[in-house]
Amino acid sequence: MDKKLRINLDIVPKHVAVIMDGNGRWAKSKGMNRVFGHKNGLKAVRETLETAGELGVKFVTLYAFSTENWKRPKLEVDALMKLLVNSLKKELPTFQENKIKVNAIGNITSLPKRAQKTLLNVIEKTKENDSMTLTFALSYGSREEIVNTIKNISKKVVNKELEIENIDENIINNHLYTFNLPDVDLMIRTSGEKRISNFLLWQMAYAELYFTNVLWPDFRKEDFYDAIIEYQNRERRFGKTSEQITE
Ligand code: IPE
Ligand code: IPE
Ligand code: MG
Repeated sequence: MDKKLRINLDIVPKHVAVIMDGNGRWAKSKGMNRVFGHKNGLKAVRETLETAGELGVKFVTLYAFSTENWKRPKLEVDALMKLLVNSLKKELPTFQENKIKVNAIGNITSLPKRAQKTLLNVIEKTKENDSMTLTFALSYGSREEIVNTIKNISKKVVNKELEIENIDENIINNHLYTFNLPDVDLMIRTSGEKRISNFLLWQMAYAELYFTNVLWPDFRKEDFYDAIIEYQNRERRFGKTSEQITE
């Protein structure tokens, strides 16, 4: 049976976050260098966005570069930054055509100037788009985000703009890089690794986690469907009992 027919379009996740992992291993298996793997990951990005759009997923967040990834060889880091600039430029017309609003989370000012400039330009040009919000996590680390959040909230307390007693989950949400995004419903990680790697720790508190052995450059429409089907077969209880959910 056509996989797509098994998907209930009324209950697709609102926010899907993806840890795009396995580019290096994919390249190695072909006797190529790691950068070749990153380049070949772009097709998987395009296909993921196409499929998410077709199913009506409103928010897609892609983990493209972590705070820890700065520790990689300079050659690889440079190649990743160049790839980012080139693909953002190349894909801008596609973002416009499909009304995709581009957003970024992470320590953006730590990126090379050229990457910052291109990114801000694409964000500005797509800001009125409203069919999907595509967020790139760049130089992103969840712990760094939380540290940054605590600093910003503390400043407000010191300046008497905020009372300590009034700090609640909402205030914290509003100071995270993801202040304008809903909680993650479904997190997909490719390549068989079963860890979070400092991605959206707060925002994934109640996300469904989906792990697949497929390496990122091989990830296609059917693989995305599989993740959605699995998500739709889970029971999200949010602490309640099963009976409370199904009543
Ligand atoms: C994910 O693939 C891409 C980035 C982290 C930028 P990897 O480069 O981590 O690939 P593996 O995990 O080494 O195979
Ligand atoms: C996580 O992948 C970061 C991105 C996909 C951008 P890594 O390959 O860097 O994660 P670890 O080091 O294996 O946990
Ligand atoms: Mg990896």
